[in-house]
Amino acid sequence: MNSQSAARSRLVVVSNRLPFAFRRSPGGKWTAEPGSGGLVTALMPVLRDRGGTWIGWPGAAGSAREFAPALAAAGAGMGYKLAAVALDDSDIHDFYHGFSNEIVWPLFHDLPSLCNFEPAYWQAYRRVNRKFARVVAPLARHGDFVWVHDYHLMCVGAELRALGTEARLGFFLHIPFPAPDIFMKLPWRKPLIEALLRYDLVGFQTARDRRNFAACVEEIVEDARIEGRGSLATVRFPEGSARAGSFPISIDYNAFMRAAASTAVDEKARELHRLLPRRKLVLGIDRLDYTKGITLRLRAFQELLERHPGMRGRVSLLQVVVPSREGIPQYDRMKTEIEQLAGRINGAFARPGGWVPVWFEYRHLSRLELLAYYRAADIALITPLKDGMNLVAKEYCACSIEEDCVLILSEFAGAAEQLKNGAMLVNPFDVQGVADAIRSAYAMDADERIARMRAMRRSIRRNDVFAWVDSFLRAAIARDLRAFPLPQPRAAEAPSDQLPV
Ligand code: G6P
Repeated sequence: MNSQSAARSRLVVVSNRLPFAFRRSPGGKWTAEPGSGGLVTALMPVLRDRGGTWIGWPGAAGSAREFAPALAAAGAGMGYKLAAVALDDSDIHDFYHGFSNEIVWPLFHDLPSLCNFEPAYWQAYRRVNRKFARVVAPLARHGDFVWVHDYHLMCVGAELRALGTEARLGFFLHIPFPAPDIFMKLPWRKPLIEALLRYDLVGFQTARDRRNFAACVEEIVEDARIEGRGSLATVRFPEGSARAGSFPISIDYNAFMRAAASTAVDEKARELHRLLPRRKLVLGIDRLDYTKGITLRLRAFQELLERHPGMRGRVSLLQVVVPSREGIPQYDRMKTEIEQLAGRINGAFARPGGWVPVWFEYRHLSRLELLAYYRAADIALITPLKDGMNLVAKEYCACSIEEDCVLILSEFAGAAEQLKNGAMLVNPFDVQGVADAIRSAYAMDADERIARMRAMRRSIRRNDVFAWVDSFLRAAIARDLRAFPLPQPRAAEAPSDQLPV
């Protein structure tokens, strides 16, 4: 590529949601507020440096024209452009709630029995992915790099190629990729996997996800060959080739650490400790989701109190559940189940006027509260049944500036691959095992707590979200780095309110 075209290459980011939360005023006008965290913070330096566009859905039904003024206002002074993909009610129902969240989400989290394989959902998925591609195509020129994110948009690359786009295309899957036994249940497994192979680079959270993907390709795509089994493999198939790699996502470690050290967070964390004299605080924070293992976690806590009476009055579980995907029946049912279980535990063990075993909060946390909860917790209990990464685990470590605390982590969270050097790994389905882990964490001596936490913090600091962006972009454009020089990562602003993922 010559220097003229090199000067033109930009980054085009495509995700289901735009990095802004859109709200409608009583007068019907839309306003946009900067949205959540990690991805935005990490991509901002590259977008600002290279210029580029972020394309996504504003999060509500409406026409592109309706959102245009709010988008223009939100994009002003950002150093990159925003473009909206307008979805109507039937798109939201069949594409977002339907194919994305009633098929791909449960299937990719190894829960095929929760899938609703409705054929109309697949049609909607193709249609909406095409809608996204039609917005992207005119904005992505030859030499640009289009980076598509997550499970809602797996077919956008194929649609872009069908529209004749020549830009390089990358895709990153934020959730796990299932093993062939599970993936083969998908009625549309062949077109879906073939669509993924139209990207130049497909990125996964862990080596296991990448291996699962390669195994599915070998089973489904005739005459496909996988070359190189390392962190970056090449898939060759009769019509072309694609690369597949693992790129574990991370957080802006320094921003979390600095914010957690602020006076306001410090005061709030102390206040929490005053409410819990001579008691250890066990913390769970999750988006309301059946993949997070919240009910099994509560059962493990119940098991702890039943089998080890000595723990009664010594530990309290603070379980925060952040509202999410309201309106999907499984999610609504789950909230009731959690409330009932927490109520049963408190009914059985609480002491009148004294110790309450489970505090359950169903709400959005402010950033100050989130950081204070992280800092105050003696033990974080993060036990998803399956999770792409789980950034709460990394945020907890970054905020634990005294390093005197313990992370209990599911072995089925992507984060376990990097944090096994310090976390107590548990099988979330084994309630007795999790109960025993809480007891061991309670009894762990300070030297061991600090050594484990320090090791995890060191590895998160080294592999922060800027390193993640850098490694993905380098792999994507390795053949032509001069065309797309990467800006030096720089410390970003403090993280904004963030939805646990
Ligand atoms: C997960 C997905 C994200 C998604 C988030 C919130 O972390 O990987 O792509 O944005 O959940 O879910 P929502 O359905 O509200 O976008």
